[in-house]
Amino acid sequence: MSVESNVRAVTTYRLSEMKQRHEKIAMLTAYDYSMARIVDEAGVDVILVGDSAANVMAGYETTLPISLDMMIYHARSVVRAVRRALVVVDMPFGTYQGNSKVALESAIRIMKETEADAVKIEGGVEICESLQRILSAGIPVMGHLGLTPQSIHKFGTYSVRAKEEHEAEKLIRDAHMLEEAGCFGLVLEKIPATLGARVASELKIPVIGIGAGNGVDGQVLVIHDMLGINHGFSPRFLRRYADLHEVMTGAITSYVGDVKSGDFPNESEQY
Ligand code: KIV
Repeated sequence: MSVESNVRAVTTYRLSEMKQRHEKIAMLTAYDYSMARIVDEAGVDVILVGDSAANVMAGYETTLPISLDMMIYHARSVVRAVRRALVVVDMPFGTYQGNSKVALESAIRIMKETEADAVKIEGGVEICESLQRILSAGIPVMGHLGLTPQSIHKFGTYSVRAKEEHEAEKLIRDAHMLEEAGCFGLVLEKIPATLGARVASELKIPVIGIGAGNGVDGQVLVIHDMLGINHGFSPRFLRRYADLHEVMTGAITSYVGDVKSGDFPNESEQY
């Protein structure tokens, strides 16, 4: 394979062109090779190897326990599958907050060991020093404001963020800071739609929402949620496009029945 053909079609530059053209950006999470292949072939523009892997892949209550090594494992599997989409990898909790040298080392490990296109970090002014150091190495960074799940213990709730005016003002200031520092995009999670639209209209970089209304430049969902693999999570912003929980349970139950009854394998399914 030539170097040229190995370059993925969606780049950070192309995303900014999409914003200028008012072309909406579709983003989804993926954590493994098989799922990433389907997501990429279906035309998703950005694939996020989210630290939501901690919840949906590893079964943790929060995103905090996932390690850098675990994220790198998931990201490598995804990158091997993807031909077109831009691949963004979440930097896990504890790998960038408070120490910009550690932040740079962590981001470099992600880029070198996974061959992904960019990293994502949560927070505003608090993580500015780490952000600048990562950017100074030429690593594209996506910001994440609003509900930032890595700070769940600070807030104690997954409720809608920035409903109060002072919180909304801080979010707007942080969004501008992230753009001015050099982020190529921003995720806004679970905030009022009017605020999402305002941030998207004030920023030049693409703003991708999850529970941030329809006035932003694109949308992101966790793949297990939108495919209905998880039944226990039903926030208002989630649209379920399938009920894979039911489909999979039906298929697996039939398999168990067929094995137990001796119906599987039949004549044509053996050598
Ligand atoms: O980890 C994740 O899946 C995310 C999305 C919710 C944006 O950060």
